[in-house]
This record gives sequence, C-alpha cells and structure tokens, in this order.
Amino acid sequence: MLILAPMQGLTELMFRKVYHKCFPGALDYSISPFLSLTHGNLSDAWKKIDDVLPLSNQDSLPVIPQILGKEPLEFTDLANRLYDVGYTEVNWNIGCPMRRVTAKHRGCGILPYPDEIRYILEQVMPHLHPRLSIKMRLGLNSPQEIFSIIPILNDFPLANVTIHPRTGRQQYDGQVDLNTFEQVLPLLHHPIIYNGDICTISDYRRLQHRFPQINHFMIGRGILYDPLLPLRIKGSECSTPDNHLRQTIHFIQSLLDAIGEGNIRDESKMRKTKEYWCLLRRSLPITQQQATTVLHAQYYSSTLSQINNLLQNLAS
Ligand SMILES: Cc1cc2nc3c(=O)[nH]c(=O)nc-3n(C[C@H](O)[C@H](O)[C@H](O)COP(=O)(O)O)c2cc1C
Repeated sequence: MLILAPMQGLTELMFRKVYHKCFPGALDYSISPFLSLTHGNLSDAWKKIDDVLPLSNQDSLPVIPQILGKEPLEFTDLANRLYDVGYTEVNWNIGCPMRRVTAKHRGCGILPYPDEIRYILEQVMPHLHPRLSIKMRLGLNSPQEIFSIIPILNDFPLANVTIHPRTGRQQYDGQVDLNTFEQVLPLLHHPIIYNGDICTISDYRRLQHRFPQINHFMIGRGILYDPLLPLRIKGSECSTPDNHLRQTIHFIQSLLDAIGEGNIRDESKMRKTKEYWCLLRRSLPITQQQATTVLHAQYYSSTLSQINNLLQNLAS
C-alpha cells in the first residue's frame, strides 16, 4: 500500500484530484492536511471542511481526514461529524513540528507528555464513532520519548500508527532514525506505516529490505520530486524515459491548469505555482539556472509563460 502524506498547502483537494486523474491507482489513499482545533473550537477546522467532504472528493484519491488538536470534546465532535458524512476513520496528528503548534502541547509537542496522550485517548475513544489512526514522530526532543508512549497506544484499539522517525526538533533535517524505528516495531501492537525520505525507488527498496514486516509506506515530498515514483515502486510505469517525461510534463501542466482555474487572485496563483515549481522542477531534466529563473518572475502571467516555455522545449 502506498499512501500520500498530508502536506499543508500542497496535498489539498486540487492536488489529489489532479494526481488521481493523471495516475489512477498509483496511490492507494491519502491523509488530508490537518483540520485544526486551534482555539479549542471547530471554527478553523470548519473553514477547510470542503477539502474532505465526500461530495468534493468524488473523482479524487480516497482521503482520510486528519485532525490536529488536544481538546477531547471538540476532537470527538469533529470526528463524529466526519463519521456522519461518511468517514469510517480519522487520523490524529501528533507529529506536527511547527513551534507555534508544539508550544501548546499540540502536534508533536504532546510527545514528552504521555499522561496527556493517555488522558485524551481515554476521553475520546469511548465516544468516537470512526476508527482512530495516529501519525506521529519519535519524540519532540528525543527519539526515546516514543518508548513511554507505546504502552499507552497499545491500550487502545487504533486502526494504525504512522511513524516519521525524526524528532520534532529535527523538523525535516538530518537523518531519519531507522535504528530507533526498528526497536519500536516489535513493541507496538498496531499496524505500522513507515513515513520519511522515500524519494527514489532505491530508498523504497532499502526500507522494504530492512523492514520486510512493513507493507504500508507513506510518501510526501518524494511524490513532488518525482510524481511517477509510486508507479515506479508498483512496477507499472510506462517503460521508456520519453514516456516518463511526457507523463511528468502532462501532470505538471494539469496541476498548473487547476491552479489557473482556481477562484483566487493572480498573486496567490503565482505563489502557489512557485511553491509547487520549487519541488516539481526536480522531476525535469533542466538546469538549476533554468529552474531558478522562473522563481524570479514578477507576475503570474510571466511565471506561467516561463514554465510553459520550458515544458514545451522539453516535450519537443
Ligand atoms: C509543507 C509540509 C506540510 C506538511 N503538513 C502536514 C500535515 O498537515 N499533517 C501531517 O501529519 N504532516 C504534515 N507534514 C509532514 C508530512 O506528512 C511527512 O510526514 C513529512 O514530509 C516526511 O515525509 P516525506 O519525507 O515523505 O516528505 C508536512 C510536511 C511538509 C513538508
């Protein structure tokens, strides 16, 4: 199973729809970027609810909604509303490393406080209608923090646990800690999903070889570095390099079209286009200079025409 990782600002509905249309079956499902219970209420989460409503998600990658928060009542309320509209699983984010989040013991800021995790699960689980899965890191400050959390997670009937084997302090830097991940595997009694730094087919094969007991992998940035990666992993990509390039270009163009059709100002379209370009440019055989020129464009129209010129040259 290959799962699209949640990435706020990148893997929202528009991306998931375009990806699913261009590469049907490449990914099995996705976790949505988090719906936040920021102020202990549902108002922030509600602003983004369209992203996960089943009606909007027709013709898209199947999605499991993710919730960020630590207020048991509001968490249960939102999760049960999601159940009522058709979701049989929700995911709890205890992995987000952003400081403004962790400072309030939210995201991976809760990992040094196992008692708080137990309290929330005790309060939430008896009233929860959907199944609960968890996405987490090894710890906030130390990878050893997870070892105090495992017995707590084992006390509850979770659907699965996704582990990104870094600490919150690492953010996305440094190495993933595969040695600690390996120690966790026999201790945690739930299905485990591996997540982190799968950017090439050899990354995937190395992990598969080292952890044969894992058969669910979640990929985030790697899909933007190489949109064909899931197909390569599944061995179902079209065989020639020409075909790879053609499919990659088609995907990028479809994504740009979708951004262009969005009901947002040109300034926002340009920002979004550049955000994706920063990652997707790696999938194209272009020079650093060609890629960077696009980022210097001042207007949405010039950003778009520069990218289109590059893509047309590659395609011809
Ligand atoms: C821009 C960005 C936004 C992210 N947003 C979320 C999020 O909303 N929820 C979450 O659980 N993880 C989030 N993550 C973490 C990813 O899901 C994933 O754990 C991380 O990128 C490591 O996986 P990768 O190496 O395959 O990218 C985000 C990561 C990035 C780079």
